[in-house]
Amino acid sequence: MQLFIEETYEDMSRRAADLIAAQLIVDPTSTLGLATGSTPIGLYADLVEDFQADRISFEQVTTFNLDEYRGLSPEHDQSYRYFMQKNLFDHVDIDPEATSVPDGANPDAQAACESYEQAIGEAGGIDLQLLGLGHNGHIGFNEPCDHFPVRTHEAALTESTRQANARFFASEAEVPAAAYTMGVGTVMAARRVLMIVTGADKADILRKAFLGPVTPWVPASILQFHPDVTLICDRAAWDGAAR
Ligand code: GLP
Repeated sequence: MQLFIEETYEDMSRRAADLIAAQLIVDPTSTLGLATGSTPIGLYADLVEDFQADRISFEQVTTFNLDEYRGLSPEHDQSYRYFMQKNLFDHVDIDPEATSVPDGANPDAQAACESYEQAIGEAGGIDLQLLGLGHNGHIGFNEPCDHFPVRTHEAALTESTRQANARFFASEAEVPAAAYTMGVGTVMAARRVLMIVTGADKADILRKAFLGPVTPWVPASILQFHPDVTLICDRAAWDGAAR
């Protein structure tokens, strides 16, 4: 594993954007796995800046997002499709057809998830997968449980995740109870993984994920077995974790 400890959230975001930009410069036809949540907002802003400064292009890039709430349409302002449009896709030269987010509006979970997994395979797999870290160790919406879900599937959200994400909705009752998410196996099949972690409130779970035993009760801990992981955290997250 490669580890970068950056002083601030802004430095963490810039470092992560540099790694993604380098990936696109080396291979302009890259397939990226993308994440949502508050952690990557700065990194997406930096990538937009890189695009505007003519340093990178997304013209031939393909993307697959990790997850989507079940039951939210792409127009819903809390859907992950909406998040991606607002924070990245609307501001760069990416082909809209080349951007995929699981279809949360499809009530047929099996069809939605199988076709997503198939599309990733047909694209030749993911070159670089970006990940945030949930407070309970989830990656995508792979919540702590007694096994590692392998493929894209419907996941019930835990109470703690619904509470954590309630800040984006009018009330907790409005947070969907389920999501479609890439499986842990889908993530582990990516050729490179880039995880970004910010803030003292993530220190505890950061320690469990990277310095503790590998267990499905901390889904991110499986990354210890991935051959090409880069972890970028800010000082607040790392200092608490290493203590
Ligand atoms: C969300 C997403 C994850 C994200 C995580 C952390 O629920 N499904 O993909 O990484 O929780 O979010 P944040 O960056 O806001 O802490």
